Amino acid sequence: MNLYAFELGRKRHLCFSELMSVLGEENFVEKNNDTATFKIDLSDPQAMQDRLGGTIKIIKILDNSKDLKGPIEKILEKDFSNHEGKIPFAINILNFKNPRQINIKELLSFSKKILKSLGNNARFINKNFKNTPPSTIFKSRVIEKGIDINIIRQDNGYAIGKTVSIQNIDLYSKRDFDKPCRDAKIGMLPPKLAQILINLAGPDTSTIYDPFCGTGTVLMEGLLMGKTVVGSDIGSKLVDYSQRNCEWLEKEYETSASYKVFTKDAQKLESNDIPNDLDAIITEGYLGPPINNTPSPERRKEIFAELTELHHNWLTNAHKITPANCKIVMCKTAYKVGEKIEHFPDFELLAESAGYEITKTFTYERPNQIVIRDIAILEKI
Ligand SMILES: C[S@@+](CC[C@H](N)C(=O)[O-])C[C@H]1O[C@@H](n2cnc3c(N)ncnc32)[C@H](O)[C@@H]1O
Repeated sequence: MNLYAFELGRKRHLCFSELMSVLGEENFVEKNNDTATFKIDLSDPQAMQDRLGGTIKIIKILDNSKDLKGPIEKILEKDFSNHEGKIPFAINILNFKNPRQINIKELLSFSKKILKSLGNNARFINKNFKNTPPSTIFKSRVIEKGIDINIIRQDNGYAIGKTVSIQNIDLYSKRDFDKPCRDAKIGMLPPKLAQILINLAGPDTSTIYDPFCGTGTVLMEGLLMGKTVVGSDIGSKLVDYSQRNCEWLEKEYETSASYKVFTKDAQKLESNDIPNDLDAIITEGYLGPPINNTPSPERRKEIFAELTELHHNWLTNAHKITPANCKIVMCKTAYKVGEKIEHFPDFELLAESAGYEITKTFTYERPNQIVIRDIAILEKI
């Protein structure tokens, strides 16, 4: 087993919960501002990375020390003593409230000298001696051709490690933008968020169901993780979109897991609609009508009243027809009103009346969004 630090995405608490769910609380070592560290076996870091929507990069910790130059020299000698070709490299610092505490400029020059003394032609990619954006590390193929060294401030000093995998932004945008069917009107769930929702249900779900599947983002991400997926939607056009998107994914990624989609009002679900061995319902849900401006207080009240009825009906129904341990991971609507967020009123009571308790919630908003997703995990009472 080795120590790995996972650099957390923008919504750190949500990203951390995803890791706890996938990697297991028993393997957790410590959490700092930008990173969470786990002691695990990781034979294929990129494969793990590709299924974690909330992790920016995975760093293998190689040393713990107050001295930084010694460990960096050791790492570079080990990796580049017999190397050919130009080496792109970067040094990044994590968990520092005051980045000036570390002199990146000096460490970059030092590393360049070491690499030169080993007979290598090296180029550092940090701009203005500041941290390098993950997209630059990815695009410059630093992990494949060179090295990204990370200095991670932890509870007991500094950990020094190298990046072993990074978010593959090309793959995410291919799945998001190249799939055959998109529908801007219903709003689309980013594939990374769909992965997080699936992962929050736990590491052992093999069959999942999305009763508001829309264009099928949850279904596609589930298929890529090798899960059996079932989806339905009230709109037959959207069911057709989901079907075509899943077919596309199956061809592009050679997945072999099975999928089924059908048209259904989620409020009228029957037990023979869903598989007996269903592990979790994972859904973005219906967030309300599309809007361009913040609705008035009266309109928000109306929308929440409609959504309350919808959620009450489908949750009560789901409770009756799903296995006892079948969790629900869903999004509930919230609105950005000025600087504040108006959350779904009395959702806890609604869930309780349908037989569920909310065990976790997270707010997931992006700049300039009016409709915000509050993610909730529901378990049967
Ligand atoms: C926010 S969209 C889901 C988008 C989806 N996550 C995707 O990736 O495209 C909500 C979906 O809920 C569906 N919907 C609304 N009311 C429904 C109901 N009563 N039963 C089933 N689906 C419903 C809409 O047709 C819409 O496709």
